[in-house]
Amino acid sequence: MTAFTAPRGIPDYLPPESAALLTVRDTLAEAARRAGYGYVELPVFEDTALFARGVGESTDVVSKEMYTFTDRGGRSVTLRPEGTAGVMRAVIEHGLDRGQLPVKLYYTGQFFRYERPQAGRYRQLLQVGVEAIGVDDPALDAEVIAVADAGYRALGLTGYRLELTSLGDSTCRPEYRERLQEFLRALPLDEETRRRAEINPLRVLDDKRPEVRELLADAPLMVDHLSPECREHYEEVKEHLTGLGVKFTENPRLVRGLDYYTKTAFEFVHDGLGAQSGIGGGGRYDGLMAQLGGQELSGIGFGLGVDRTLLAARAEGLAVGDEARCEVYCVPLGQAAKRQLVRIAAALRGAGVRVDLAYGGKGLKGAMKAAGRSGARLAVVAGDRDLEQDEVQLKDLRDGSQRAVGRAELLTTVKEALAG
Ligand code: HAM
Repeated sequence: MTAFTAPRGIPDYLPPESAALLTVRDTLAEAARRAGYGYVELPVFEDTALFARGVGESTDVVSKEMYTFTDRGGRSVTLRPEGTAGVMRAVIEHGLDRGQLPVKLYYTGQFFRYERPQAGRYRQLLQVGVEAIGVDDPALDAEVIAVADAGYRALGLTGYRLELTSLGDSTCRPEYRERLQEFLRALPLDEETRRRAEINPLRVLDDKRPEVRELLADAPLMVDHLSPECREHYEEVKEHLTGLGVKFTENPRLVRGLDYYTKTAFEFVHDGLGAQSGIGGGGRYDGLMAQLGGQELSGIGFGLGVDRTLLAARAEGLAVGDEARCEVYCVPLGQAAKRQLVRIAAALRGAGVRVDLAYGGKGLKGAMKAAGRSGARLAVVAGDRDLEQDEVQLKDLRDGSQRAVGRAELLTTVKEALAG
């Protein structure tokens, strides 16, 4: 029988790498909590129409990458490809948009995109995201961006840059879009690119082929055609970012893969990752709530790729989540000793110490090897005779020193040794 393997393009994270993944996720989420974002836990799948309408029919995400299926009740549902549409659905459904604004929420979880798998591009990916809904204030755009930046910095990342632009809004983008289309129609582009220019001309600006780039050198740019209001908003965002000490580079050709963006759009790009260099991105989406049947409320948010951020941390040689899986390793030598050490281990755990034990009658040599591999600082070794004297041997696994410790003093001694 052939062995099972994980679905294509989906990573398994096993210890110790899984601990690093959790550290990255929690560090990024902590930055959001510190700025007053409340946790939201949402369904992993939703009505297919929510994503089609929210993310946009013409995007690759909706047209090519969704995991869509019919459930047993005959409904079309889709594994969430991103988080913003679901958050908006929940905010509208539960009336949060009628309470205190802005509504500030963060989430973390798995998202699903049927993309071509390659290094750093998976079909199941982990994100930490935030959404701030209901207040159109450039200071809030800057806060969202600064929260992401603070998360990356808390991990010790330095090799990334923030790219920023404004995509305008419904008052200036339609006119710009036509101008761009006119420009593109006059170029000797291939059939597929021409088609893309008709459906989503902004995406063409993002073409990576050198010959196309050359043709696009003089293409009109959104930032030169912003309405006075959008321009002022953009200038204010930049001003706030500078005030916050968040460095950015303006990239007027920045294109996001989702349709809902207006005004501010940004991406964090890491140089150590090769082709899949986007470690996080987001922007403002002022028309989205109304489009999903809610009020005319603005919103801004980000999604940070936890998998890619971990790869970035590794590329920089950062130690993340390297904590050993236990601090104390118990080694029983004999049956009576095992009965006692099982209880001692439980008591230490109850006092907050991370403890493991040598199960399965390994013998002293094998058990000490296992203790070393566990990463523990201390070993508690006990034979039947030690316990008759109400003692255990406490071994420091760093320097090899060993001493007898009375059972009554064990917890205090262990805590002191671990603190030292
Ligand atoms: P996104 O740019 O599509 O935005 O995804 C955010 C991040 O998720 C990316 O920068 C990347 O790090 C990670 N990511 C995306 N696809 C993959 C993949 N196939 N494999 C590994 N990592 C991936 C959004 O999803 C928006 N909902 C963000 C947002 C929130 N905008 C406003 N609010």
